[in-house]
Amino acid sequence: PVHLHHRHLDITSLQELPDSYAWSQVDEYSAAAGGPGRGDSFVSENVPVIDLHDPNVLQLIGHACKTWGVFQVINHGIPTSLLDKTESTSRNLFSLPIQQKLKASRSPDGISGYGFARISSFFSKLMWSEGFTIAGSPLDHFRQLWPQDYANYCDVIEEYEKEMKKLAGRLMWLMLGSLGITKRDIKWAGPKGKFKDACSVLQLNYYPACPDPDRAMGLAAHTDSTLLTILYQNSTSGLQVLKEGNGWVTVPPIPGGLVVNIGDLLHMISNGSYKSVLHRAVVNRSKDRLSIACLYGPPSSVQISPLPKLVDPSHPPLYRPITWNEYLGTKAKHFNEALSSVKICT
Ligand code: SIN
Ligand code: FE2
Repeated sequence: PVHLHHRHLDITSLQELPDSYAWSQVDEYSAAAGGPGRGDSFVSENVPVIDLHDPNVLQLIGHACKTWGVFQVINHGIPTSLLDKTESTSRNLFSLPIQQKLKASRSPDGISGYGFARISSFFSKLMWSEGFTIAGSPLDHFRQLWPQDYANYCDVIEEYEKEMKKLAGRLMWLMLGSLGITKRDIKWAGPKGKFKDACSVLQLNYYPACPDPDRAMGLAAHTDSTLLTILYQNSTSGLQVLKEGNGWVTVPPIPGGLVVNIGDLLHMISNGSYKSVLHRAVVNRSKDRLSIACLYGPPSSVQISPLPKLVDPSHPPLYRPITWNEYLGTKAKHFNEALSSVKICT
């Protein structure tokens, strides 16, 4: 793994792609990525777009979860004005001078703060992106970044996170509801099933325009280590998901739409009925791109495991009980082993 904090380049000003940012197929597949190469997208199908007011919403979501592991939602109730405000707040953040941003750097073992994509340490090449992760209160970071008007920024981010959490709870019941799961089946959702104790982390991603987009990688292929992720993307496309038989399929931005993808933890509690989807972000020669992911998971003390209703003698449990944190540790270990075995071979 590269030691990122020592080598943070300001990529927005580069005219050429440095070697450390040029990905070959081997680099891309060095970790658990797999799948066809970049040019193999012979798209015949589109990621489903689901209207949350559709009378058949439960069936539509269930089908999307089984066949794609990802879908877009419209009519989700989050005002466009909030999405716009959050986008411009995030843009302001990334357009600060690099020295200013580095003051809010993520510490080597930390979660929150500015830096390379968090999955960077699992790959030997650098990614053409910048990230800003907000776990818990954004106040401390924002105070460092904008001594004058941080309060304003905090309000926007906090409102966005609150709305996303509400939507994520709703989506959880729709996704699980189509498997026959009811509010009684998940104790940690609380008596009213509101998932009050769920944890969420906001991940802001910025992908500057890139002089050599075909050799660069915005965010390498990965599955999310969440229950689910809700992603807002601006009008520049870049997100791709791997669909069996279709290769990499672009998820086009739609006005007011949000992308929902299944993470590893929902994959596990559904006992494999729903698959966490492999996805990546590619970059663009002329346009920059911004995305905001809400990473949604269980409270830290909760062990998740395949729901008893989904387990029977012909469907034995495929996963053991595990907390979110334990799972992150296991996944990192697996990634690092995959990376070191590639290092030895090449
Ligand atoms: C992510 O996977 O967290 C973000 C992908 C994107 O920027 O579209
Ligand atoms: Fe992701």
